[in-house]
Amino acid sequence: MFQSVKERRTIRKYLQKDISEDLLNDLLETSCRTATVGNMQVYSIVVTRDALMKEKLAPAHFNQPMVKQAPVVLTFCADFNRFSQWCRERNAEPGYDNLLSFLNAATDALLVAQTFCTLAEAAGLGTCYLGTAIYNPQLIIDTLGLPELVFPVIAVTVGYPDERPDQVDRLSVEAVVHRERYHAFSPEDIDRLYCTKESLEENRKYVAENKKETLAQVFTEVRYTREVNEALSANLLEILKQQKFL
Ligand SMILES: Cc1cc2nc3c(=O)[nH]c(=O)nc-3n(C[C@H](O)[C@H](O)[C@H](O)COP(=O)(O)O)c2cc1C
Repeated sequence: MFQSVKERRTIRKYLQKDISEDLLNDLLETSCRTATVGNMQVYSIVVTRDALMKEKLAPAHFNQPMVKQAPVVLTFCADFNRFSQWCRERNAEPGYDNLLSFLNAATDALLVAQTFCTLAEAAGLGTCYLGTAIYNPQLIIDTLGLPELVFPVIAVTVGYPDERPDQVDRLSVEAVVHRERYHAFSPEDIDRLYCTKESLEENRKYVAENKKETLAQVFTEVRYTREVNEALSANLLEILKQQKFL
């Protein structure tokens, strides 16, 4: 059971083979069966196939090579624009320029993105999420012409796999599932839950290459630092204001 999910891994290299319009449409249409807040479908999916458009999008994703290499790039957006327009054109006053509406629309967009990825992987395609969409939203907004109340929350590159990397580790289910009530972890629990991850050869190498003492330090001091998180958060808030969500 669940084989295509159990065997999944992120794919970052793709064959130079197009995804047929029929298959892509089928995946998109089926993805839209995903649950959605109040059945409002407050998301939009922008499909990029054009090489020039991919080139314009690439810097927004820190030039990660998948953007130009993948036959298709999808940008999933939180979108209260269309729904608000529908309201106004039906003598109804929309009240969706607020944080709650952004979270609802972002939830919708993320859920539909995950359904798309699950279906695409079951159909033999490979996908890679690009969380960089929320690091450089302005460039994406400008390139794709996103209006007020539309905000890019995640992008996905998709194509036929040209690699089969090893699956990466996961914490045991005990680390993420709480029964009935949330339970705090003791230092011993943390040791036990993280010991496999910390002892993996590639992670040990990673720590050494970055000249750090622990794997956690690679996260806090190299990959996801406070300074960068705070700067990107400030930018995010500015652009959410500009897009009229705040
Ligand atoms: C929200 C989100 C953002 C991500 N952003 C990127 C990204 O910008 N570049 C990338 O190469 N992988 C990205 N990934 C993929 C993760 O690195 C990957 O899922 C994780 O390392 C686990 O590997 P797996 O998917 O092969 O199991 C992202 C995944 C998620 C869920």
